[in-house]
Amino acid sequence: MDDTARLEVDGKSYDLPIIEGSEGERGVDIQNLRSETGLIALDPGYKNTGSCKSAITFIDGDQGILRYRGYPIEELAEKSTFLEVAYLLIHGELPTREVMDRWNHGIMRHTLLHEDLKRLFRAFPKDAHPMAVCAAVVSALSTFYPEDLNPADDAQVASSIERLIAKFPTITAYSLKHALGQPFIYPDNRLSYIENFLRLSFGNPCEAFEVDPVVVRAMDILLILHADHEQNCSTSTVRLVGSSKANIFACISAGISALWGPLHGGANQQVIEMLEEIAAEGLNARQFVDRAKDRDDTSRLMGFGHRVYRNYDPRANIIKKASADVLEKMGVNSKLLEIAVDLERIALEDDYFVTRRLYPNVDFYSGIIFDAIGIPVEAFTALFAMGRLPGWIAQWSELQGDGQAIGRPRQIYTGATVRPYVPMDKR
Ligand code: ACO
Repeated sequence: MDDTARLEVDGKSYDLPIIEGSEGERGVDIQNLRSETGLIALDPGYKNTGSCKSAITFIDGDQGILRYRGYPIEELAEKSTFLEVAYLLIHGELPTREVMDRWNHGIMRHTLLHEDLKRLFRAFPKDAHPMAVCAAVVSALSTFYPEDLNPADDAQVASSIERLIAKFPTITAYSLKHALGQPFIYPDNRLSYIENFLRLSFGNPCEAFEVDPVVVRAMDILLILHADHEQNCSTSTVRLVGSSKANIFACISAGISALWGPLHGGANQQVIEMLEEIAAEGLNARQFVDRAKDRDDTSRLMGFGHRVYRNYDPRANIIKKASADVLEKMGVNSKLLEIAVDLERIALEDDYFVTRRLYPNVDFYSGIIFDAIGIPVEAFTALFAMGRLPGWIAQWSELQGDGQAIGRPRQIYTGATVRPYVPMDKR
């Protein structure tokens, strides 16, 4: 196959190198396009732009494949744990038992928040959105660890990574406790990562807290499935901010803000709200699907469609099965799950969705599990962020190691051409 692409402009031709990845993906390298031709590449929404080379996550959207560091998501969801996957993403290999024990210990001994940082939660209104609280508190972590902010210092980065992964569940749980007006309880580092989060979120200082292993396993699967997804909106945000050499806490905080949007991680909240609306209005699935297709109606079938997957999102497959299992084991009879299954069935037979290749994405069923576990709807996206954290960190670390230049896209200017200033009394 050719290893260059030829571009003809104004009668001159230019050869552009073709780059090939380890899975045969090919791209035209346009790094020298502007210096050689004076042209830039225009691609709003980056639908067709590779922003980096990366060895972390592979997605084949047409075939519905997702792999972290070469391992299929289905195997990781079945056999691994979230903290092991976090290690894999960040360090590139599965850990040995000894390395895993050290990794686990390093994280679990950093779960506590500085007492002064806890006071920050009190400054937020009771109904503050958990994503706003998480973004603010993660950014504030940088003010407590000023000695660990140099992205070029491996030891500083390693301790910031442990702190981020360790403290994020505590931060999320405290945002829930603050909304309820309940006391913040201290982490118990004898528990596992997820058990600890559940106790911090649902326990109280007056009673013993029983952790349900079914819930722990379901959450483990959900976090694994969310752990990375290559150059999506929030990850690209983390990389872009990271390219300015901002500290890791600032970069992750930016990623949390990007994830909050309803077209990205915020969709899991929107899915449950959509299902609740359908139940409350007594609509049937067909009526809602018709609404979602109607151009004059702003409703979309939330949790359907994906920029990359044009086939079933493999994560949705796993979550669909897990949600049915969890609900059965917990003895929950979920009206929302019934509606979701109905919506999926009707949409997948409908020409509109078939021709546009719109399938359920990761968010379509995840909210049903979060709901059954007792996570408030507003906190769903914070749980997504907890899962995505290792991916953001891995991508941030890869960027630092690559020595990539600061991210700075170009534009095609379409505004007014030069004109003289008009004094106010002459306008
Ligand atoms: N319901 C109804 N119609 C849809 C939907 C949907 N969920 N998704 C896409 N379409 C339609 C669009 O209206 C468009 O139709 P047209 O060609 O007649 O104009 C066509 O399908 C293509 O859609 P785009 O929005 O152009 O696709 P894009 O790749 O830009 O967007 C996105 C992908 C944002 C995920 C979109 O499918 C969407 O809004 N889905 C609902 C929100 C959602 O679930 N987001 C979570 C994504 S997964 C994640 O971030 C973790």
